[in-house]
Amino acid sequence: MGSKNKLKRFRENETFSNVIQPTREEVLNGFSLKGNWHTHFNNDNPIVLELGCGKGEYTIALASKNPTFNYIGIDLKGARLWRGAKTALQEDLTNIAFIRSQIELIDLLFSENEIAEIWITFPDPQIKYTRTKHRLTNTEFLKKYHHILKPEGVVNLKTDSEFMHGYTLGLLHGEGHEVVYAHHDIYKNPHTPKEVASTQTFYESQYLEKGKPITYIKFRIRY
Ligand SMILES: C[S@@+](CC[C@H](N)C(=O)[O-])C[C@H]1O[C@@H](n2cnc3c(N)ncnc32)[C@H](O)[C@@H]1O
Repeated sequence: MGSKNKLKRFRENETFSNVIQPTREEVLNGFSLKGNWHTHFNNDNPIVLELGCGKGEYTIALASKNPTFNYIGIDLKGARLWRGAKTALQEDLTNIAFIRSQIELIDLLFSENEIAEIWITFPDPQIKYTRTKHRLTNTEFLKKYHHILKPEGVVNLKTDSEFMHGYTLGLLHGEGHEVVYAHHDIYKNPHTPKEVASTQTFYESQYLEKGKPITYIKFRIRY
């Protein structure tokens, strides 16, 4: 996408009621919506997150199917978020918000027990050892997710990366977390849960065109 188009999207994001773009300082110095997300949505419905949501396909699909849940997509890239935010406004989906922020700050964006469920859709696998700290299912991230999730809250990980799938399963088993469901090729498995097989993200569609198997893990973090 050209830089002109990106700038246009950034400008539009500023005007969208469903896009929240806190500065790093605002987040570090006591973010006003932390613990108060019900005031943004005007209801007490459970909140589901999509991390690294890109254009927000999961957020949009789940929000339109489940109006009694609120959905928040988080990504650093404003031009991608714009797509999901624009669609949500056009379709009058008031149970959606997007936050432009680093996922590393998630425990400063939400308070303890504020989140019902997390989806991580096609995260960058960060294969190099030196990138381990950026891998969205490493121990440090799991601790943060555990903090903001309700006690029975689940995490869903969908990825084309065998590395990410294997790394995450190994870590979950090694640390004694609860693997609720796991499969290494969901579209070849007739028992794959509907919400997992019925929505394809932007990246997922590209991987499927190349014939790559898509993997899935649903888990609970137990400490
Ligand atoms: C491979 S893309 C997947 C996007 C989308 N979920 C999909 O499946 O089409 C990974 C996304 O995660 C975002 N991302 C990666 N690391 C992040 C971080 N630490 N904080 C916020 N966003 C991040 C990137 O900006 C990118 O949009």
